[in-house]
Amino acid sequence: MKVAIIGGGGLVGSSAAFALQCGGVVREIALIDVNQELAEGQALDLQHGTPSVADQVVQAGGYEQIPDSDVICITAGLRRKPNESRLDLINRNTGLFRQILKDVAAAGPKSSAIVLVVSNPVDILTYVAARELSLPSSHIVGLGTQLDTIRFCSWIAAALEVPPTQVSARILGEHGDSMVPIWSSATVGGFPLDRHPRWRPALANEIFARTKGSGAEVIRKKGGAGFAVGIAIRDVIHSIALDQRRILPVSTVQEGCYGVRDVALSVPTVVGRCGVLERLELELWPKEVQGIRNSARRLRETLEQVGSTA
Ligand code: 2OP
Repeated sequence: MKVAIIGGGGLVGSSAAFALQCGGVVREIALIDVNQELAEGQALDLQHGTPSVADQVVQAGGYEQIPDSDVICITAGLRRKPNESRLDLINRNTGLFRQILKDVAAAGPKSSAIVLVVSNPVDILTYVAARELSLPSSHIVGLGTQLDTIRFCSWIAAALEVPPTQVSARILGEHGDSMVPIWSSATVGGFPLDRHPRWRPALANEIFARTKGSGAEVIRKKGGAGFAVGIAIRDVIHSIALDQRRILPVSTVQEGCYGVRDVALSVPTVVGRCGVLERLELELWPKEVQGIRNSARRLRETLEQVGSTA
């Protein structure tokens, strides 16, 4: 399987490439970036490590890499400032993103290609991609709250001092200020969190606040996320590459799940080789469903604004 990463020279794109390299699943990684020299440098640095990881081809290039790519991952875009919301980026990134979509379409992607949108505001740009690319909407997936979800699990694990891989918890809705913590199904070692001896009710707010603020916290400290967002991207691409059909909290244009339509946000979604297989309206607490609908309202308001900047 070949993955093209648009924005592959940048922190997010190159971190995704490194995560895919270490994962050893995809066969080819192509880095496309407006800064060609930087993309070439990232590709060289990755290529040098291939003998110790997997028999992969890593290269830099232009949109000629698109026609034979199975997954097109779009990470390009300006990063927000620490005090900016992801939605604040809308005016700066939408024009750039629409040009990328035009370039992808002109390059002639294969009809089976899956587009993974990472650029922020990811839910808005996923909706724009689904509406403006002539691929089936099931082939357009946004990273959504997969990154928030693994951050959420990491903070739960840290608070309870348990192995992070034994925590299962989700964030749904907007990858942004209205993201929704799903406590109703959170478990550690297969048991509800509140059964753990170190669990305290006050931990819920502390953990969610840290999760929600993690993006801005990393921006303040190191300029922006790289490693974790690369891992989150790898999680989605591996589910596609291996047809794992994992249930992932990724952003897609909704068609009625939890009463939400015609806006892209994250709900439990089965992701396989052909993109979105189905969305699962799994039972949540009423306030969690309300949270998802609140995300939809906020995103719809912003979409109206995007329409005016078309
Ligand atoms: C973050 O939360 C890049 O939006 C991403 O770090």
